[in-house]
Amino acid sequence: MIELKSAGEIDAVTAAGAVVGSVLTAVDEHAAPGVTLRELDALAADLIAATGARPSFLDYHPRFAPVPYPGVICASVNDAVVHAIPDDYALRDGDLLSVDLAVHLDGWCADAAFSAVVGAADPADQALIDTCERALSAGVAAAVPGAKMGDIAHAIGVVGRAGGYGLLADHGGHGVGREMHEDPHVPNEGKPGRGLRLRPGLVIAIEPMLTAGGRDGYYHDRDGWTLRTVDGSRAAHTEHTIAVTESGPRVLTAGRPSGRLAVAAAQTAGALR
Ligand code: MF3
Ligand code: CO
Repeated sequence: MIELKSAGEIDAVTAAGAVVGSVLTAVDEHAAPGVTLRELDALAADLIAATGARPSFLDYHPRFAPVPYPGVICASVNDAVVHAIPDDYALRDGDLLSVDLAVHLDGWCADAAFSAVVGAADPADQALIDTCERALSAGVAAAVPGAKMGDIAHAIGVVGRAGGYGLLADHGGHGVGREMHEDPHVPNEGKPGRGLRLRPGLVIAIEPMLTAGGRDGYYHDRDGWTLRTVDGSRAAHTEHTIAVTESGPRVLTAGRPSGRLAVAAAQTAGALR
């Protein structure tokens, strides 16, 4: 069932989104060679606790997972695409790090992610990340009232495929608000004009995942959570929680690192209407 959110409820998700944005920014600033993923997780836990919010991933136990999720953030390095559990791995110069975080604040949830290179970036990694950001921005810009879910999916997929990247076809975004995962599913590739009609009050997480090797396949790590590329190539993941409003898409996690790109896309989409 798809629940449309009121203006007040969207403001509540935005408040949760502000916590997500500021915590992800702090994690980005602390990610450096020698820092462990567990240290980043602890930093996020402390900062979230200070706001009165609750980390939504911790103890989350969907059907597909063998054990409840043990972390506050997901910290996916290099060939890990998403859902990697923070451990004692110490970041190295040139690692491609993707960090994902959702929190509940006063009963409302926001979810966002960014990718960045630690230290000096290989240009190929930066191009992968930039394309993932552009795919996210294109998806956000397509989230206007009266458009269809397929328009969002198509916008994301076209940008990713044009870069020659793989898309993790059966993974994507989701409704979000009271729960971290609500209906509807938000695919990362699709046909324009198809699927659910987008109405004001729809709140969704849009989250492209791109693989450098161009393959759509992935496998689950032994931990049961981490998704890795089949060919060992690197992957990027970017995510915003957004609302469809009468005046266009509104980005509710704008404080996320690299969040400006999608905000600009949303403003352009609103201005064009
Ligand atoms: N943004 C991710 C998603 O929607 C976060 C899930 S992490 C989990 O799939 F660990 F909680 F599953
Ligand atoms: Co998500």
